[in-house]
Amino acid sequence: MTEAGVAARRVAIKAMVRIEQDEAYANLVLGPMLERSQLSDRDRGFVTELVYGTTRMQRACDFLIERYLLSKVDHQVRAALRLGAYQLRFLETAPHAAVAATVGAVRGPGRGVVNAVLRKLAKEAELGTFPEWPNEATRLSYPTWIVKKLEQDLGVDPAGVALESMNQAASVTRRDDGYVQDLASQLVCQAVQEAAVDDDLSGAVIVDLCAAPGGKATALAAMGATVLAGDLRPKRSSLVQTNATKLGSSVYAFVGDGTQPPLRSGSADHVLIDAPCSGLGSLRRRADARWRVDSAAPIRLGQLQTDLVESGLNLLKPGGILTYSVCTLTNEEGPAVLDAVMAKHPELELLPTMSTPEQVPQPWVVSNRVAYLLPTETDGMMLWQLKKGQ
Ligand SMILES: C[S@@+](CC[C@H](N)C(=O)[O-])C[C@H]1O[C@@H](n2cnc3c(N)ncnc32)[C@H](O)[C@@H]1O
Repeated sequence: MTEAGVAARRVAIKAMVRIEQDEAYANLVLGPMLERSQLSDRDRGFVTELVYGTTRMQRACDFLIERYLLSKVDHQVRAALRLGAYQLRFLETAPHAAVAATVGAVRGPGRGVVNAVLRKLAKEAELGTFPEWPNEATRLSYPTWIVKKLEQDLGVDPAGVALESMNQAASVTRRDDGYVQDLASQLVCQAVQEAAVDDDLSGAVIVDLCAAPGGKATALAAMGATVLAGDLRPKRSSLVQTNATKLGSSVYAFVGDGTQPPLRSGSADHVLIDAPCSGLGSLRRRADARWRVDSAAPIRLGQLQTDLVESGLNLLKPGGILTYSVCTLTNEEGPAVLDAVMAKHPELELLPTMSTPEQVPQPWVVSNRVAYLLPTETDGMMLWQLKKGQ
């Protein structure tokens, strides 16, 4: 056991206590803590892996731990036990090192119970006698409702693939201009471009009603469009302006409720509704998100998404196109929104490229007239496009 190994676990435990006890966001807590620490870059990377990995696999770790706990434990002990279980079961850290460094990082009377339980888990690791998982939701470490929901909406096999992949660390992709943006978001912007005449967005006016932090807005501006980029939240809207300024983009940020946009109707060549959603397609990016989303979110958000599309349609010029995208995979937030809008506006044309299996470009797949990206190589995403008549 090295000093640095103990120090790394100590920071990890502290961060996990904040995430659990104060319901703090993992990414917001961890950055400043690492900044303040004396850890090397390599150890900072290790702490990040420990905190995000343990947070993701929390339910599975709790199953392993609970078998040996006789009474309730405090947040520090719980965090240390989860951290130890994660290293032993998922990282396959050498059992002796995992136990010694984790126990060494615990302060106070809780150290005894951490030592006792982790030794038992270390024995199971050495002998290869970890128990069978009681069910899929525990094995994959998600709330039961998320597993059931995706199995129901995507089918059991695709859901399993999606859930497994979202337990891997997210990769970082950078655009040519240096902006960090997942490939799925880049593919959404590509679909917007390819829906334009001759794939040409130069001179087009695009309204992006849910724009913050501005990833898609700045990508569309780089394709030649002028983008009016709104967001409900002032703080987030200022991020759009900051990013646009940094990149020298023709993006004009404004604060506004997308269901009542402060813009003239019939003024846009293209509208993008990259709507707020339950985020079940991008769970690998936010390790703690799965424990925060509630099961009522898809229905609640489906209504808001439908309202946003309605007001977006109103902004389109005749012949204009609306692109709808969400980084989630539930029926309520994809096919059901499309059905509700089409039922109300049968005159709209659903663009065939992104809604028919024969035409959709890879890696998109089509189901229920909606284009899907499953979260394997990229984030998960659903998309469809509507054209207003001339
Ligand atoms: C998926 S994010 C947008 C990501 C962005 N398009 C990008 O590519 O960087 C959804 C955004 O919708 C915003 N939002 C939520 N409700 C809204 C509303 N009623 N009107 C406008 N924006 C809203 C949220 O603040 C959030 O920034």
